[in-house]
Amino acid sequence: MRDIWLNPSRTSNWDSDPLSGNPLRGEQVDLLLSLIADHFTPGSTILDIGSGSGLVEEQLFQRVPEASVVGVDYSPAMIAMAVKRLAGREKQFVTVQHDLCNTQAAKLPKRDYRIAFSVQTIHNLQPESQRNVMSWVYKVLANPGFFFFLDRIAVPGADSFSCYQSVWKKQERVYSSSIDEGQSFPEHQQYLDEQGDSPLTLQENLKIIDNAGFQASALDVRGNRALIACVKTKGR
Ligand SMILES: C[S@@+](CC[C@H](N)C(=O)[O-])C[C@H]1O[C@@H](n2cnc3c(N)ncnc32)[C@H](O)[C@@H]1O
Repeated sequence: MRDIWLNPSRTSNWDSDPLSGNPLRGEQVDLLLSLIADHFTPGSTILDIGSGSGLVEEQLFQRVPEASVVGVDYSPAMIAMAVKRLAGREKQFVTVQHDLCNTQAAKLPKRDYRIAFSVQTIHNLQPESQRNVMSWVYKVLANPGFFFFLDRIAVPGADSFSCYQSVWKKQERVYSSSIDEGQSFPEHQQYLDEQGDSPLTLQENLKIIDNAGFQASALDVRGNRALIACVKTKGR
């Protein structure tokens, strides 16, 4: 089931409760926003890969009021929510409706992109497309440039599953939330399948980031969620 993001009721349910099942999102998005604010160059443009309903931009404009953002997303339902949420910011935020499975054909406005970021999006793509997105972002970014990548990562195998269960149990206690990722590794895989998710492991992500040309730093990895800084450096 690949296209849950094209379903208007699924998208509005997600938009009204993005923390459910992912209680770390608030903290990790907050760290992402600090990274963006600390690396932002006035006059440059920020690229959001999978800008969705504009939830991250809403917070980003509070943190960096002069920011200019181009978002890429393929879901009309999510884009419509973003337009509504960010009304009044039309000069600062534009969405390019495009399927990330085919980045080669993407037509971005010509801008000076110094920062890109992506939240909970790239794991929706097939691994081959994930690789292509990394290389595409590398090409689009100025040098030096920063790609802050926050996403679900895969449990690497059945024998590691119990470790993730411990992390989720602990998070449920700390955040008073309910994380339902399955009771066993096969159930977990089935859950991912039903969501249309194809997350890569941390190691696989670091490899594709490195292969794209970036220098990778896993800044915040908790359980199966990771915030990775991908830096395009002059030295490579
Ligand atoms: C979980 S939402 C995250 C939205 C936003 N980044 C946020 O964190 O608030 C995932 C987003 O990825 C987008 N997406 C999934 N597959 C895509 C694809 N193939 N091309 C473009 N966008 C895609 C969906 O439309 C959705 O807006």
